[in-house]
Order: sequence, then C-alpha cells, then structure tokens
Amino acid sequence: MFAEAGAPTWRVPGGNPANAPALMQVFGCAACHTVPGVQHAVGNVGPPLTRFADRTYIAGMLPNTPENLIRWLRAPQTIVPGNAMPDMGISDVQARDLAAYLYTLR
Ligand code: HEC
Repeated sequence: MFAEAGAPTWRVPGGNPANAPALMQVFGCAACHTVPGVQHAVGNVGPPLTRFADRTYIAGMLPNTPENLIRWLRAPQTIVPGNAMPDMGISDVQARDLAAYLYTLR
C-alpha cells in the first residue's frame, strides 16, 4: 500500500519559497509548528515540519504531492474535519509559496 504514495514530487509551479517565512508569521504557522529556517517557529501544537519533503503522507491522509499539499494548506478542515489546524483563507499563490518552501526541508 505504501507503493501507491511513491516518492514526493518537489517542484511547485509558480511557488516562490522566499515568500514563505513571512507568510508563516502572518498566518501563525510558526505558533503551531516547528519549521527549520523560520524565526520563532518553535510551536508544538502540530507536527514539526522538519524533513517535510521526505514525508510520505500529509496529515496521515493524503499522499505527499504538491497538489495535495496545496489542498491541505488551503482547506485542512475539509480533509480532516475537526483537526486543530484551521482554514486560514490562504490563496492559491500563497499556498504555492508555502509548499515550495516546505519541499526544501529535507
Ligand atoms: C492552530 C494550530 C495550527 C496552525 C495555525 C497551523 N497548523 Fe499546520 N497543523 C496543525 C495540526 C494540529 C496538524 C496535524 C493535523 C492532522 O494530522 O490531522 C497540522 C498539520 C500540518 C501539515 C501536515 C504535516 C504532516 O506531516 O502531516 C502541514 C504541512 C502544515 N500543518 C502546515 C502548516 C502551515 C504552512 C501553516 C500556516 C499557513 C499551518 N500549518 C498552520 C496545526 C496548525
């Protein structure tokens, strides 16, 4: 069954990872997650995003692909209703920037 998920794909079309650290402060990701390279991102509400590029599943639910990561970032409550990560009104472009950054974490 793990073969279905396959190796994560790391390219995110249109994503600029340089924008992500500032977005992570604005949206409060840093308060909930430990994120390497992002100032003050030492939160422990959600899982550490350390080595996220090598993770097989997103939230234990979705195979880790750029398309699924963008879906997750934009609407985590649709994918796992009731989980502690809120829908934050993230745009498609912002999700691409965040995803591009997360895929640098290996
Ligand atoms: C209020 C706390 C909170 C905030 C704010 C938050 N998250 Fe989360 N996040 C969580 C929790 C809790 C989970 C685990 C959800 C689950 O597994 O069902 C999670 C899961 C994730 C995952 C999947 C991790 C994995 O290994 O499966 C990613 C990626 C992620 N968050 C990124 C972000 C980003 C980027 C932001 C900001 C835009 C953000 N989160 C904001 C709490 C939060």
